Amino acid sequence: MVTRVTTVAFQGIDAVPVDVQAHIAPGFPGLVLVGLPDKAVRESGERVRAALTASGLGLPPKRITINLAPADLPKEGSHYDLPIALALMSALGAIPQDALDGYMAVGELGLDGRLAHVGGVLPAAMAASARGLGLVCPTGSGPEAAWAGDDLDIIAADSLVALANHLTGLQLQARPKPGRQLADAAQLPDLADVRGQAVARRALEVAAAGGHNLLMVGPPGAGKSMLAARLPSILPPLSARELLDISMIQSIAGELAGGVLSDRRPFRAPHHSASMAALVGGGLRVRPGEASLAHNGVLFLDELPEFAPSGENTKVLL
Ligand SMILES: Nc1ncnc2c1ncn2[C@@H]1O[C@H](COP(=O)(O)OP(=O)(O)OP(=O)(O)O)[C@@H](O)[C@H]1O
Ligand SMILES: [Mg+2]
Repeated sequence: MVTRVTTVAFQGIDAVPVDVQAHIAPGFPGLVLVGLPDKAVRESGERVRAALTASGLGLPPKRITINLAPADLPKEGSHYDLPIALALMSALGAIPQDALDGYMAVGELGLDGRLAHVGGVLPAAMAASARGLGLVCPTGSGPEAAWAGDDLDIIAADSLVALANHLTGLQLQARPKPGRQLADAAQLPDLADVRGQAVARRALEVAAAGGHNLLMVGPPGAGKSMLAARLPSILPPLSARELLDISMIQSIAGELAGGVLSDRRPFRAPHHSASMAALVGGGLRVRPGEASLAHNGVLFLDELPEFAPSGENTKVLL
């Protein structure tokens, strides 16, 4: 019999559904992972095996095959641990398959069966909600997932055992609450600190009101860096849609600590020695770079002329 658990693969900030299928059959003992897994996903087999043993569920000495479908889509990241473990637990009869049918799962496993937070939980939760599914995730990711909507069914657990107890109805986990932003606005640099500089301040105001780019030229110590850092303080508040967009990018980049969404616009100031990939993003899973992380906020290129060691970089900045 084949057991299935739904999870996601990330393409930019889009979460594409992936079907994790587990099959246990007589044959030469071993665990094979197929469906274009990358190195982190391939290693997941070892983590899952140890985590299941630690949770009191040793894998039988049989031929175990895990397929990640669609097989032609490359899989990257450590969030496949949990869906693989759940599919195997279902194949071993520890969790009924119908308890898993209405859920999507993401999470990383420790060797002791504990669940660890992974990046991209917010886009995964949005994808689950759009497909009418619930989400199974680690406790640490719960506050982030809860932002995807009040009607999304979320199971956030500490360990595989706690998860199995919830799914079999032995001990239920409470639904996590969305992480809240702490009120630390007072620590933000404020344009009110600037003395004089009427023209520069006016320029900042015009740029902030119209969403224009700004090129600052002036002698050292004139206050260019200082003024740029204060631009976010006069930008309009984020709309709900913008907040969600920037949070999804931060989630994929693993920068949403504790599921706390920030209601302030991003201010990114990459160093001029930053590589092309760090600036514009890249990789198989297309990790966001500084330009994406500054979405709906400010991308500040301090010491701009220093940025262009190669022809390629110049093209990006012009
Ligand atoms: N109009 C001002 N009001 C308040 N403080 C100022 C003002 N102008 C400059 N300063 C002070 O001078 C310091 C130096 O400014 P800043 O580092 O922003 O200069 P800069 O133009 O970026 O110089 P550089 O070209 O060397 O990078 C600031 O941290 C700030 O303390
Ligand atoms: Mg400066």
